[in-house]
Amino acid sequence: MTVKTKRTIKISQLVNPHFKKMWSTKCSYIIAKGGRGSFKSSTISLKLLTMLKKQAQLGHKVNVVCIRENTVNLRDSVYGQICWAIDMLHMTDEFKYSVSPMRITHISSGSAFYFYGGDKPEKLKSNTIQNVIALWYEEASNFKSAEVFDQTNPTFIRQKSPWVNDVKVFYSYNPPRNPYDWINEWIALQEENPQCFIDTSTYLDDQLGITQEQQLALIETYKKNDPDYYKWLYLGKIIGLGTNVYNMKLFHPLTELFTNDPLVRICYSIDAGHINSATTCLAIGVTAKGKVILLHTYYYSPEHQSRKKAPSDLVPEIKSFEDSMDYQVPIGKRTIDSAEGALRNEFVKEYNEVWHGVAKSDEATMIDYVSSLLAQGRVYYLDTPENQIFIKQHEQYQWDEKTVHSDDPKVVKENDHTVDAFKYFAIDNARKLGLKIDPHINAKVKLFKRGI
Ligand SMILES: Nc1ncnc2c1ncn2[C@@H]1O[C@H](COP(=O)(O)OP(=O)(O)OP(=O)(O)O)[C@@H](O)[C@H]1O
Ligand SMILES: [Mg+2]
Repeated sequence: MTVKTKRTIKISQLVNPHFKKMWSTKCSYIIAKGGRGSFKSSTISLKLLTMLKKQAQLGHKVNVVCIRENTVNLRDSVYGQICWAIDMLHMTDEFKYSVSPMRITHISSGSAFYFYGGDKPEKLKSNTIQNVIALWYEEASNFKSAEVFDQTNPTFIRQKSPWVNDVKVFYSYNPPRNPYDWINEWIALQEENPQCFIDTSTYLDDQLGITQEQQLALIETYKKNDPDYYKWLYLGKIIGLGTNVYNMKLFHPLTELFTNDPLVRICYSIDAGHINSATTCLAIGVTAKGKVILLHTYYYSPEHQSRKKAPSDLVPEIKSFEDSMDYQVPIGKRTIDSAEGALRNEFVKEYNEVWHGVAKSDEATMIDYVSSLLAQGRVYYLDTPENQIFIKQHEQYQWDEKTVHSDDPKVVKENDHTVDAFKYFAIDNARKLGLKIDPHINAKVKLFKRGI
């Protein structure tokens, strides 16, 4: 006869010793900041579940509210994170899971986790959830400002459960590298607040050996190739922006292709302009080991030309540029700025060739895809005369000094056509290139929102 025994789980086996103090702090406001993969989210989710479980076992009905900046990010982040914690504590069957409305309910006590997006302040403000014991702002740096905390905290604190002394408010985030980002200024204020416990963690705090070897090896490549980027991303340091967007040492010139790492596909990427802006098409090879090599550049500038090329002139030129790439490997994606309708239509009309419109996001987010490739040491270019414009434009790509000391820095938008085309390539091929779209899905918006 087999006897089913419920495995007992010790929290100390799941939560790194680094977080002991944070776990048991008496403070009402608890901030976990730090580098990527330092167990902030896992620890908070386990803590929230433990808090709810403790009350539920006493027969109390209590509620926990989890908030992200955006409703669309909830399911893949906080909701998934709470499910993960429930799973880790072997409590899966004790809960009922619903996505619409987004809620995870403890069946026997009726206690629940609620999930909200900060983009719907009316839902936050007008909600009537009673018996609140905790609130969690995940990826807090992605909120537009601290205003949402100021507006939302009082609402939920008013609805405190009678079974607890205070509503615990948790925040977790990765510090943006811009010292002027609102959250970096906000944290300085919180440091003065005696009600606030602040923890700073990095992946190096992993005494339980949870981080996988492969992940550690990847982190080492970042560290070797771009120490500043590593310091920011993995050590959570506020390294500042500098004025150059990219570290040019990370664009490696080549006189010939690698014999031991052949091309496996060629991708094309277009940034187009018609009146004064140039039109460029990059032919980019991807190798078996995931290197990215700029093979050739098409570039046409209409500036100072009295008779400018029309889409019907540009498209055949780009088509023959494509056809001249004789590398005997399949074509990957053809990517173009989604706002560029004229060339796309012309390509379909003339050649039945469909170019994929890339979904653009904010500048900083897009830049991060490229920065991530660079920091992994994967970017090369054939050192030919045609490709020099690509290098020159990347060199000249700068943060606008006037905005660099602000919460919302901008790049100087001049002669950045090959730069934009390269960003489109990186975004459109992110999955295949293994660029994390979000450490927790979709936040890549996150990476750069918080990064720049
Ligand atoms: N006890 C555990 N057992 C197994 N895996 C774990 C455990 N704790 C955390 N992890 C995993 O470790 C990884 C990193 O943890 P987590 O996402 O909590 O870090 P983070 O500090 O929130 O990272 P980020 O800064 O990227 O948001 C996650 O994939 C998580 O699932
Ligand atoms: Mg996290």
